[in-house]
Amino acid sequence: KVVAVIMVGGPTKGTRFRPLSFNTPKPLFPLAGQPMVHHPISACKRIPNLAQIFLIGFYEDREFALYVSSISNELRVPVRYLKEDKPHGSAGGLYYFRDLIMEDNPSHIFLLNCDVCCNFPLPDMLDAHKRYGGMGTLLVIKVSAESANQFGELVADTSTKELLHYTEKPETFVSDLINCGVYIFTPDIFRAIEGVSTHRKERANLRRLSSFEALQSSTRTTLPSDFVRLDQDILSPLSGKKQLYTFETINFWEQIKTPGMSLKCSALYLAQFRSTSPHLLANGDGTESPVIIGDVYVHPSAKVHPTAKIGPNVSISANVRVGSGARLISCIVLDDVEIKENAVVLNSIVGWKSSLGKWARIQADGDYNSKLGVTILGEAVTVEDEVVVTNSIILPNKTLNVSVQDEIIL
Ligand code: GDD
Repeated sequence: KVVAVIMVGGPTKGTRFRPLSFNTPKPLFPLAGQPMVHHPISACKRIPNLAQIFLIGFYEDREFALYVSSISNELRVPVRYLKEDKPHGSAGGLYYFRDLIMEDNPSHIFLLNCDVCCNFPLPDMLDAHKRYGGMGTLLVIKVSAESANQFGELVADTSTKELLHYTEKPETFVSDLINCGVYIFTPDIFRAIEGVSTHRKERANLRRLSSFEALQSSTRTTLPSDFVRLDQDILSPLSGKKQLYTFETINFWEQIKTPGMSLKCSALYLAQFRSTSPHLLANGDGTESPVIIGDVYVHPSAKVHPTAKIGPNVSISANVRVGSGARLISCIVLDDVEIKENAVVLNSIVGWKSSLGKWARIQADGDYNSKLGVTILGEAVTVEDEVVVTNSIILPNKTLNVSVQDEIIL
């Protein structure tokens, strides 16, 4: 049997995702019309002999309760949310719930970060992992040398694929091969985490005994013994010991830390739907259907006027109303938004319950990596008729009656 664990983190971790994380946990923010965490979960469905999927985080239980019960029914695989009482780090969280994770006595455990966007080639990783015969296999990818330092950089043996060296977000360049945050382990991983934790406890005890060390440690922050990071505390020390191996993907991969990146990843997942879930893409066939261009998702409850033109890369959530002549390009429109006649939305995210007046324009240049490259309207923002909002972030509950550009409206 195999189980999958998805690390969803918690509220303090989502700060770069503001203002979209004020009311919705980042893992439930919709990409291509489905919660972010839905994409790795549906990829897990392709794993042979999958017994359970666990989401581990420190959000309140009630935030995930509804999603977890509906997705369990839909996939016919038990999906459970396990809440940590405090953050234990990416490996510590796994260890904290080891008894539940081992309940079905799995031979392998997948571990996935929730904030990465890729095609999750899990069955291929499992096959490769069995061939290598180690304790763990990491999904890795080549990125540009300039961007590599935002990730864990690593060196692998070109023929055996063994992980030889690993450094988390190094200051000086090590390698353009990076850690994708998608792993498979044998249950031996628990012993490795326990080792780190025991070592920490012993060091803490030693420090208590030695006044010199106590003096030193008071100027240095020490981590609690149950806080274990997968990257620094496990991957780095175990590299070059024939225990960890790499599986390189040449398919798409992105990290989702900012609202701008969520728009890019929504496009990637919509494109993936062409082969995995074509029924989710709007086809513009019906007589009452708007003009559809490229990959578009429209929630069944949304009402889009037949003279509106939608796409490419547009995702429209529940109960949205789009008026006649409106034009939507590269955007995410969240629940209960109203877009009036002839309004334009381009390279933007429109927050829940917002309203755009007639001939209003919400737009940006679409540079996903710059802070104002995607315009964001927080929840319940009102943009009055003919107002133009360009490369800006508008916090919740604002009303705009004049045009703004390159601004953050608090
Ligand atoms: N449950 C729980 N508890 N989850 C956590 C905790 C915790 O205490 N800390 C982090 N996570 C989750 C996050 O929500 C995220 O999904 C994942 O663990 C990794 O988060 P971070 O530890 O903050 O690392 P990162 O995202 O900056 O970088 C990691 O992922 C990159 C790939 O996206 C590193 O492993 C990098 O090397 C890697 O390139």
